[in-house]
Amino acid sequence: MFGKKKQQPQIDKEQLELIENAQRRIKQKKRLYIHFVVFLLGAVFLILANTVLGIGDNIQFFGIDWFVFAIFGWLFFFVYHVFNVFITNKFMGKDWQKQQLAKLVANQKERIEKLQQKVEKENPIATQTEVISEQKTNVVKGLTLIVAAGENDAIGKDNKLIWHLSDDLKRFKSLTNGHHIIMGRKTFESFPKPLPNRTHIVISRQANYKVPDGVIVVNSLEDAIDAARSDVQAFVIGGGEIYKQAMPLAAKIELTRVHQSFDADTFFPQVDTSVWKETSNTFHDKDEHHDYAFSFLTYEKK
Ligand SMILES: NC(=O)c1ccc[n+]([C@@H]2O[C@H](COP(=O)([O-])OP(=O)(O)OC[C@H]3O[C@@H](n4cnc5c(N)ncnc54)[C@H](OP(=O)(O)O)[C@@H]3O)[C@@H](O)[C@H]2O)c1
Repeated sequence: MFGKKKQQPQIDKEQLELIENAQRRIKQKKRLYIHFVVFLLGAVFLILANTVLGIGDNIQFFGIDWFVFAIFGWLFFFVYHVFNVFITNKFMGKDWQKQQLAKLVANQKERIEKLQQKVEKENPIATQTEVISEQKTNVVKGLTLIVAAGENDAIGKDNKLIWHLSDDLKRFKSLTNGHHIIMGRKTFESFPKPLPNRTHIVISRQANYKVPDGVIVVNSLEDAIDAARSDVQAFVIGGGEIYKQAMPLAAKIELTRVHQSFDADTFFPQVDTSVWKETSNTFHDKDEHHDYAFSFLTYEKK
């Protein structure tokens, strides 16, 4: 029970193959040696059979005794045997096959590595395409983010907008008119009252969040999208939390880029141009009604 465990001799696979190979070579050489001895004895016997015992005394081919042909014939087979043992088996035997196979495998590995390097070079594009197509599969047809953001993506501070740009509000009204507008609870509370001629969908985690008649309250973005499914173009109108969650699902962004950076506490997520393609860009300079220059940009998911 407490005795030492007996050590078993361990021979690895490679060593075993070497031993087997050596044994095989010894057998081949032994057989060749026996063949040599038999050939010598046989040759002597054939000579004696003819010259001493007189067997086939009168059989000659081209004036040469038959045993000479027999000995040369046998010699030919012996040489063939020697060739097999020292040439064919040594250079074209199992070892040779293995070497060829190893060479072939090494060549294939090299080719695979080159191909891998090529694929890796192209991989960022492939990966990007995968991400884009993955995002595309989740896109909700017609779902549009509408937002006004500064150069630093600022969109609000203290639950208020940071600027007043009348032409931007007009654009917001004309684009969203008659549609569903999806918003976070905080954005909803930033309005003095619901906007006319639009169906408001407010997202809140609160169980009994009270809203005026006609306003729909849901507990998740998915439920908000579901509530707006009859609309060919539902708008997500903010704020920061909801934009962030809705961006991967949106098909379009209507962005008013205000050409100034602002101090803010709420931001729009960065527009990733590998995912989004700018399809329209209209510049509006500052004037007596607008304190800042801005551009109306439209992005569509690639
Ligand atoms: N510049 C623009 O175009 C623009 C547009 C809109 C808003 N804004 C500004 O953005 C700011 C407000 O944005 P915000 O990010 O603070 O708030 P928000 O996105 O408007 O609302 C956040 C609230 O939405 C609810 N909510 C968020 N994710 C939810 C989810 N997955 N499930 C259920 N409920 C969820 C929660 O409500 P509960 O706490 O009730 O659970 C949360 O507190 C304001 O300053 C506003 O003026 C700017």
